[in-house]
Amino acid sequence: RVGDGRFQMSCVVLIGFMGVGKSVVGSALAGKLSWPFLDTDEIVEEQAGIPISTLFEERGEPAFRKLESEAIAIALTEDPSVISLGGGAPTQASNWDLLRKIQAFVVWLDAPVEIIVDRIGTAGSRPLLAGLDQESRNAKIVDMLAVRRSSYEMANLRFFTDNTASPMEWAARLASDLEHLKATA
Ligand code: S3P
Repeated sequence: RVGDGRFQMSCVVLIGFMGVGKSVVGSALAGKLSWPFLDTDEIVEEQAGIPISTLFEERGEPAFRKLESEAIAIALTEDPSVISLGGGAPTQASNWDLLRKIQAFVVWLDAPVEIIVDRIGTAGSRPLLAGLDQESRNAKIVDMLAVRRSSYEMANLRFFTDNTASPMEWAARLASDLEHLKATA
C-alpha cells in the first residue's frame, strides 16, 4: 500500500500508542524537513483551555474525543506539516475519513511493548492509565495495544523504533524513508 502515488507526502501524520515517541520523533522530523510540527493533544488543550487530564476528569472521554477530532481537522489545514495524533485517535473511523480525504501519509510509529511500558512508567499525565497500580497498568497497556492494533495497521507505513537509536536518528531515518517513497511513488 505504500507509495502508490495517491498520498500527499507534504502531510505526514504520526500515529501509534502512548509512549512510542510521536511528539519527539515528529518534532525532530518536522525540524529536518523545515515544516511546522503540530500535535493534536496540544491543540485540544489550547481549545479547551485546560490540560487533557482535567478534561477527561471533568467532561469525560467522549468530550475529549470530540475535541480531538476537531483538532485533527484544524491540524490538517496546515500543509506542509508533520502532525502527531493522540494514541486513541485512530480508533475513531471519522478521524480516518479526515485523513483519507486529504490523502495524508500516515506513519504508524511502533515500539516493543516493554519499551512502551517502561516509557509510560508512572506518569500521572495519562488519564486512561491513571490510578492503576503497576501490574494493572501494564496489563491494561497490553490489552489496549491488542484492541488498537488493527486501527494502527491502517497506516500507510509502519515504522518500527526501539532504544538502539535516539529520536533524532529515528527522525533522520524516517525522513530518508519518506524521501525514498516520494521518489518511487
Ligand atoms: C490517549 C493518548 C494521549 C492523549 C489522551 C488519550 C489514548 O496522547 O490523547 O490521553 O487514548 O491513547 P499520547 O498518545 O500523545 O500520549
